[in-house]
Amino acid sequence: MIKWGKSKKVKNQILFFSKPSDLALPYLVEFAHIDMALKKDKDGKVKVFPLIEDGKVTHYILVRYKNTKVLKQQLDTFFLPQIKKTLEDLNQDFVLDLDRYDFSFELKRSIEDLLVYSLYKFSRYKDASKGFNLWINDSSRPKTDWEAIKESIFFTRDLVNEPPAEVNPQSMEELIKDRFNTKENVKIEVIKWNKLAKLWLNGIWNVWRGSEYEPRLIIIKYLPQSKKGFKYALVGKGVTFDSGGYNLKPTGYMEDMKSDMAWAAAVLGALNYLIKVKHSNNLIVAVPLVENLVSGKAYKPWDIIKMYNWKTVEVGNTDAEGRLILADALAFIEDKYSPQTIIDVATLTWAQIIALGNKIAALMWSNSKLNNKLKELSWELYERVWELPLFKPYFDSMKSYIADFANVSNQKWWPWTITAGLFLSQFVKTSNRVHLDIAGPAGVFSWVDPLYGPWATGFGARLLAYFIVNN
Ligand code: BES
Ligand code: MN
Ligand code: ZN
Repeated sequence: MIKWGKSKKVKNQILFFSKPSDLALPYLVEFAHIDMALKKDKDGKVKVFPLIEDGKVTHYILVRYKNTKVLKQQLDTFFLPQIKKTLEDLNQDFVLDLDRYDFSFELKRSIEDLLVYSLYKFSRYKDASKGFNLWINDSSRPKTDWEAIKESIFFTRDLVNEPPAEVNPQSMEELIKDRFNTKENVKIEVIKWNKLAKLWLNGIWNVWRGSEYEPRLIIIKYLPQSKKGFKYALVGKGVTFDSGGYNLKPTGYMEDMKSDMAWAAAVLGALNYLIKVKHSNNLIVAVPLVENLVSGKAYKPWDIIKMYNWKTVEVGNTDAEGRLILADALAFIEDKYSPQTIIDVATLTWAQIIALGNKIAALMWSNSKLNNKLKELSWELYERVWELPLFKPYFDSMKSYIADFANVSNQKWWPWTITAGLFLSQFVKTSNRVHLDIAGPAGVFSWVDPLYGPWATGFGARLLAYFIVNN
């Protein structure tokens, strides 16, 4: 468990240092000189020093970094994974007192937050091994802020880690109501399946058709201000399981698709944080929720869908479902609520992983100011995003002979992340909009991240939460 504050009982410490002389105790200084010298090609080292006094052992996890720049750059890829591994191997209580260091507020906050991520365990279905406690002390940050982000990250990750039988569009409604209904200034609107068709939300309606669970569009309004309007709208893809539909995904690819609601979970996590810290601007959060399956009623390749904004879409591929539900949700939110800025986020394309891997998400934008701010913050927070251009000529590849356009491009070797972004752009009028694709960073079945551990990373919740708090 990870705890906030000081512990008088726990003697084991994590100590960061750059020069051996930074360490207060003489034996540590000596150890650091001999055992932790940095060779030319090394930027840092993590080692344990056991100190025996009066028959008792105190452990020091010593973290040597070349300079603060290196510490910052490699915090999530080297330093914290090493610390995590050492903590887990030792399995003892530890203290990290960040008041000792003159690191920037941002660096301290990242160390604190990433330690939260690294020590998270999903233990609902299996007894977690007897854990240890890590006490973090940082008097420059309110406990409530750290607790709010911890709760929000855990909420997001738990939601993604839950199996698809537990997390479906209907259970998500219950879960969202349980969590948010009683909160101050929160109003929840649930658009159920029959109403979706009446409102002409046909993208959501059609993707749903193969599933036994009814679809939903859930809209959560957070209204701390009495004045009308919303500063931000967050729209997050919530496909609770994506089999691909009749364009069925093969074994080895389908399994990851319980995480296809990772962005719905991330925007809900961000909202959770913003409510907890009593954020002062009005916000609107929308999650379209469906399951993409096959049945006698499911939508098929070559179906044509007349979307909420009356554009017609030919279904070139039932596995390009995310953009269909997002397109409707986006058009609906803009039409009904005209938010100042729209951020839509999704585990949208496989190609995103090919382009940027699991440590960087793709960012597409119309407004460069917004884009730069988000990008800058994302690298500081280790939830990195990088731009792909919404290059309009590529949209020609989505032409259809009988509908306005298709939901996939007709080119095989093609930047599908960009065409998905271009597709969504057909459904939003404002240029105050950012689109994020995090297929990779959300967490992949076959890959265990050394910092985040297996499965859901919770990527994005913290980025959106801190972005909105400061902007
Ligand atoms: N949910 C997937 C994208 C995805 C793939 C997320 C792997 C995370 C890991 C999405 O619905 C999808 O199937 N996209 C297709 C679109 C294609 C058919 C145009 C893809 O990227 O292959
Ligand atoms: Mn799909
Ligand atoms: Zn999907």
